[in-house]
Amino acid sequence: MGLSWRVGVVLLLSWLACSMAEISHTHVERDPRPIILFETFGFDSTGHIDMNVSDDMVYIPKGAPDADQSVMGFFITTAEAETQLQIELRNGGCVLDNPNIHKLFTLADVETGKNRDTGVYTHYYDVPDAREYSMFFANCQPNSVVSMKVRLAFYNIEPGGKKDYLPAGKTQLPKLFFLCFLIYAIAAGVWIYICYRAKATVHKIHWLMGGLVFLKALTCLTQAGMYSWIKSTGQPDGWNIAFYVFSFFRGIMLFVVIVLIGTGWSFLKPFLQDKEKKVMMIVIPLQVLANIAVVILDETGPSNREWFTWRDILHLVDIVCCCAILFPIVWSIKHLREAASTDGKAARNLIKLTLFRQFYVMVVSYIYFTRIVVYLLKSTTPYHYAWTADLADQAAALLFYVLTGYKFRPVEQNPYFVLDDEEEEAAREALRDEEFDL
Ligand SMILES: *[C@@H]1O[C@H](CO)[C@@H](O)[C@H](O)[C@H]1NC(C)=O
Repeated sequence: MGLSWRVGVVLLLSWLACSMAEISHTHVERDPRPIILFETFGFDSTGHIDMNVSDDMVYIPKGAPDADQSVMGFFITTAEAETQLQIELRNGGCVLDNPNIHKLFTLADVETGKNRDTGVYTHYYDVPDAREYSMFFANCQPNSVVSMKVRLAFYNIEPGGKKDYLPAGKTQLPKLFFLCFLIYAIAAGVWIYICYRAKATVHKIHWLMGGLVFLKALTCLTQAGMYSWIKSTGQPDGWNIAFYVFSFFRGIMLFVVIVLIGTGWSFLKPFLQDKEKKVMMIVIPLQVLANIAVVILDETGPSNREWFTWRDILHLVDIVCCCAILFPIVWSIKHLREAASTDGKAARNLIKLTLFRQFYVMVVSYIYFTRIVVYLLKSTTPYHYAWTADLADQAAALLFYVLTGYKFRPVEQNPYFVLDDEEEEAAREALRDEEFDL
């Protein structure tokens, strides 16, 4: 019972697994799981799998009869067939006998076929059709644990004969992220120009916003580099480290900038209140944790038992951060509304109030879109359009950056700008009506 539940969860999660899709080295160590997910990859009609297995060991309880290694093996299967497998498992059968899978080889084959000198078993496999497949290891021997080292390469062959290590549907990513870099590089230039033009009213927050755009541009550039190296060599060759570094600082900077804008820091008031500082003190360490989780997720893959724990930590931390950054905006809105009814500058305050409300809606939409809609897109788009989820993600981010930049840009304020009594009265009424609405 407990077993099939666990298998069910693993199978369910398998289609959520996104892989970095490079040549991977996995060390399975005394793993008791009946099913281990390795990777999911989109193949086109020229798909290949190339794998090496070494140091395989099967451990069984003392005194038990020898393990049957022909019921332990690797197979690939499609997401649709996984429901079938679940039924099979619930009925106590061995997944390796299921007709809906493509069995690659078993540990018995490894024993007989491995190179006598190096102890490595090499297996090449031509993927039968253009589909997305997940690779699993199944262990149908009760009460046994396995250890082994697995080197795995999934690739498609380009028309010119070159290997493409990015899955079909993600092979466009280097171009997409390079385009993203160009756009943010231009945006950073435009921002510097705007700040330079409106020198007199530039606040510290505007420099932070500029810094954020700059970091975003570098994140896109390193991401483009990383994907293009993976595409041609199967390895990110250090680009991933550069990417993690920039994406770490960009992640923290994004949340800091949203919190600071939300508090009105530097353009409404020069200081932070205690409760606003507390939000910062929660969000920054959580972002550090979230970024560590991202690195671990990308670098280990779902065959690692801790992978699922880290993924849950990441989701939880992300939700907490997303909620926490909304508080300062809500406080500012409340504060502005109170101020409007006491200081007699209703019209001025109404403009600010509207601005903060719009910002609130923008942040909520941004969070909602990038966390939920993109997630749904990633799990529902056909695998050969997988890049469209990344495109939607980047487009939403760009829209958010542009709108925020536009709404909070430094503007030349006209000191002689006075509102007439009529406008003031209208604003007061608008604020009064609102109190009844609430
Ligand atoms: C497996 O080993 C062979 C021979 O050493 C090597 O050519 C191949 O690249 C290896 N494959 C992987 C995925 O590491």
